[in-house]
Amino acid sequence: MNANAFNLATSTEAFAPVAAPRPAFILCAERLRDVVARENLLDRAMGPGRRRKSSEKIRRGRKPAEGLALVARDADDVLVGTVRLWNVRLGEGGRQALLLGPLAVEPTAKSGGIGSALMRQAIAEAARLGHGAVLLVGDPAYYQRFGFSAAKTSELAMPGPYERHRFLALELVDGWLDGAAGTLKASGRKVSEALFKAG
Ligand SMILES: CC(C)(COP(=O)(O)OP(=O)(O)OC[C@H]1O[C@@H](n2cnc3c(N)ncnc32)[C@H](O)[C@@H]1OP(=O)(O)O)[C@@H](O)C(=O)NCCC(=O)NCCS
Repeated sequence: MNANAFNLATSTEAFAPVAAPRPAFILCAERLRDVVARENLLDRAMGPGRRRKSSEKIRRGRKPAEGLALVARDADDVLVGTVRLWNVRLGEGGRQALLLGPLAVEPTAKSGGIGSALMRQAIAEAARLGHGAVLLVGDPAYYQRFGFSAAKTSELAMPGPYERHRFLALELVDGWLDGAAGTLKASGRKVSEALFKAG
């Protein structure tokens, strides 16, 4: 028996109840009551210019793709991260895909792995739900770690100004973006339709 094992076996502390360590954050589906906290987090993380992005044209008036609005909460149940994905069509009569964004993490919680966890969970969930590809506009230096690149977006376009080298995609089904061309168009449920169905 080594010294550590002996100490554990004989120490009264070894038998005292020990609370299991709480995870720093958990991921879950976004809830209706997260709206205000999420909007405030986005303002803090991205600033006032966030509503002028070309992705916003695709998101405005639409609901996120089914099952693909995720949040991270800290141990006190405070919202510390958010990501949403949106249904899009790739050009007139083109295939369906997803547009990811915004991804944002509470500034005081940055570099704690929350952004990566949200990305990996969102990608896994999108694949599980049968989607073929995820597109986004973002920094290649961040998103390439999840497999995103500009290799298959050269014939595609966002409906507004954006920097082409930041227009990235990840195929969830091999070859899904082969031959894809044209401007992305929102194809998800409209907010009014969603409210009507919910009511
Ligand atoms: C980008 C963001 C979501 C990352 O979330 P996070 O929880 O801090 O990310 P993680 O902890 O998973 O990863 C941190 C790593 O990503 C790197 N990183 C963060 N943003 C980056 C960027 N724009 N470009 C390159 N690397 C970036 C960090 O330097 C860090 O690197 P390290 O692991 O080598 O230390 C978060 O910083 C954020 O909310 N930024 C403001 C909103 C925003 O710009 N969103 C869109 C991103 S294009």
